Order: sequence, then C-alpha cells, then structure tokens
Amino acid sequence: MTFPANPFKPTAGVMPPVLIGRESIGLDFSEGLDDGPGAPDRLMLITGPRGSGKTVMLTELGLIAARRHWTVIDETASAGLAERLIARIAPESSRIAGVNIKPSLMGASLGEVNIAPALRPSTLRDAMSARLRALGKGKGLLITIDETQDASMEDMTAIATAAQHMLRDNAEVAFVFAGLPSLVSDLLNAKVLTFLRRASIKELGDVPLDEVRDAFASTIRGAGLSITDEALDFAAQSTGGYPYMIQLVGYNMWRTARRRADESGRTISLDDVKAGVEQSKAKLGEGVCAPVVKQLSERAVDYVTAMAQDDGPSSTSEVAARMGESMDYANIYRQRLIEDHIIASPARGFVDFAIPFLREYLRSLHRPE
Ligand SMILES: Nc1ncnc2c1ncn2[C@@H]1O[C@H](COP(=O)(O)OP(=O)(O)OP(=O)(O)O)[C@@H](O)[C@H]1O
Ligand SMILES: [Mg+2]
Repeated sequence: MTFPANPFKPTAGVMPPVLIGRESIGLDFSEGLDDGPGAPDRLMLITGPRGSGKTVMLTELGLIAARRHWTVIDETASAGLAERLIARIAPESSRIAGVNIKPSLMGASLGEVNIAPALRPSTLRDAMSARLRALGKGKGLLITIDETQDASMEDMTAIATAAQHMLRDNAEVAFVFAGLPSLVSDLLNAKVLTFLRRASIKELGDVPLDEVRDAFASTIRGAGLSITDEALDFAAQSTGGYPYMIQLVGYNMWRTARRRADESGRTISLDDVKAGVEQSKAKLGEGVCAPVVKQLSERAVDYVTAMAQDDGPSSTSEVAARMGESMDYANIYRQRLIEDHIIASPARGFVDFAIPFLREYLRSLHRPE
C-alpha cells in the first residue's frame, strides 16, 4: 500500500492544495469583472506580509479572469517595469506612439524598447487600447503587478496614469497590484497616485483557524489518510493562521507520517503532527527569520529582542527602557525597522512585529537550555 503524494506546497508563489480563507476576494473580483467597466473591484490593491499569500492570490485572480476569456499579463516590479509592460501588452508588430514593437523585441531583447519616461503613460495606454482592439469586443485585459513596493515612482506614475485613463474610458480592463503593507501609505502619500486611493484594498491577514482545520481535514482525509480530531486541532493551532506556516506544517506532518508508515499505516498521528510542527518552526526560523535578523545591526537586534518580551504590541517607551536608552536613541532604530518592514506601528506610541513568528524566533534564541 503506497502512501499518497504530499499535496502541501511550502514554496513561495506555488498554489496550495486549498486556498484557505480568501473566498471573498475571489468573489469580489469575479463580480467586478461581471459587473462591467466602473465596478470598484476592477482596481484592486492586495497587501500582506511576506508569506501571506499575495502572489498566490494574483494567480487565483488571473485564473478567474482567464475563465472569462480575459487576457492576463502578470508582471513583477523591478527596473524597466513600464517598458516591459508596454512590450508585453502591445499586440505583435504594432506601431505605437512612434515605437515599433516587433516580436523580435519581445522576450530576451526587451532592453531595446526604450521609451522616454514622459511618453510612457500614453504609450502604455496606446498599447492597451491596441491590444483590446486586437482581442475583439467583450474580451478584457487584466494586468497584475507583484512586489509593487519595489516599483520606481516613475513606473508607478506611468502605470497609474494609464490605468486611470483606461478605467475612465470604460475599457474592459482590470488592474491588481500586490505588495507589502507599507505600500499603501507609500502610494497614498505620493500625490500622483491619488487615484489609487479608490482601489479596493484587500489586506491578507491570518486565516481563521477553524478554516485551517477544515482544509487540513479535507486534504488529509480526502487523500485516504486518517487523522484524529485532536491531531487536527493541534496542527491548525500551531500555524497561527499564517499561510506559509500552514503549508510547512501540512508538508512536514505528512512527510513524517510517510517515513514512519508501516503496513497498517495510512495515518497521520498526533506524534507525526508534533514532529512536523517542530520541523516547521525550525524551517521558518531558518528560512524567514534568521536572514532578517542577520541583516540587522546589534542595537536593532536589541530593539526587537526587547519587543519580543511582549505577547502583543510593545510600548515604545517601554522598549527604550528595556534597552537602557533614551526614547530619542531608541527611535532611530524604531524608524529603521519600520522602513525595513520588520516592525510596524499599529498605534501611536506602539510597535509590533510585521513578520509573523519573528517574536517566537527571537524568544527561541534566548531561551535557556
Ligand atoms: N490562502 C492560503 N491558504 C493556504 N496556503 C496559502 C494561502 N495563500 C498562500 N499560501 C501558501 O503560503 C505560501 C506563501 O504564499 P505566497 O508566495 O503567495 O506569499 P506572498 O505573500 O507572495 O509572499 P512574499 O511576500 O514572500 O512574496 C505558499 O507556500 C502558498 O502555497
Ligand atoms: Mg510573493
């Protein structure tokens, strides 16, 4: 009797077996497409910390659009974003605003498409209009941009300006931007991007634990394995509802059970779950938290270590006191840690971790043997 293949996907950007707790976003987006131009969810901003499921959400929305026969263009922000978009959106061999975009310029030699920044918004618009014409009546175009926080202000201005015009013209288009939570304040602070204020903002928070439990149950039992309710509860609890951790725990408990399995075994036991959770915490610490901590200066580590004494948000004056420093001095570190998206300020005078499980990781470093 063979043990079924492991369905969990603890890998960045890879679709999980069950997309837990995100139905409403998919529904909003579907309705946005069905309701036609002007629907608010045709302009969406998805934010969440690392490992919260932004990339996977973009994939899901792309699938929803593709099912409606929309054309989907996925891009990730980095240098040259606007020009890359223009080259990918423009129908082959089209002539747009004096730029002849030939198929030979697509792909590897994109660098050859060189458009002055001032022309990019209108060129992007022309490219979208030309593509929509080529697609034919009723067919739409979805553009998704991942890691938006890394986009240059020039690129964002070009894209936002073009998007604004297309939406205003009631074109069959939709735009979804995904990025780290700080993106919202950064974007909204930039005057040119005020139109993005109207975007429908979806914050990817923790997934409810009962939904995690149900998804574990259906994935495991659906594959013909058995698991007790107690083991399921333990597994779900240990994820904290953090999507990346959900995949890690699922993957590791499954793997532990498979390696242990004897003839009678098509079971994930409570011990398998416990072992899997320990491996997952180590992996999360190693893979996500350690690189973050390694980049920090010694005093910045002191700052976050002082925060880790609290179970929730920390008072900034309390943190300074624990460091034995003045508020002004501690503030230098607070500011840098906020800029680096490692901590956030949920309220005036308070800071909290912006990276799930970083608190637990820091505590584990200082735990006495
Ligand atoms: N709703 C969900 N339910 C279960 N697992 C999920 C869910 N969303 C994402 N995952 C899983 O979590 C992990 C992280 O997902 P993803 O790479 O999309 O996150 P991200 O927010 O884009 O992270 P980063 O900021 O590092 O790019 C993947 O292993 C993915 O399969
Ligand atoms: Mg991602």
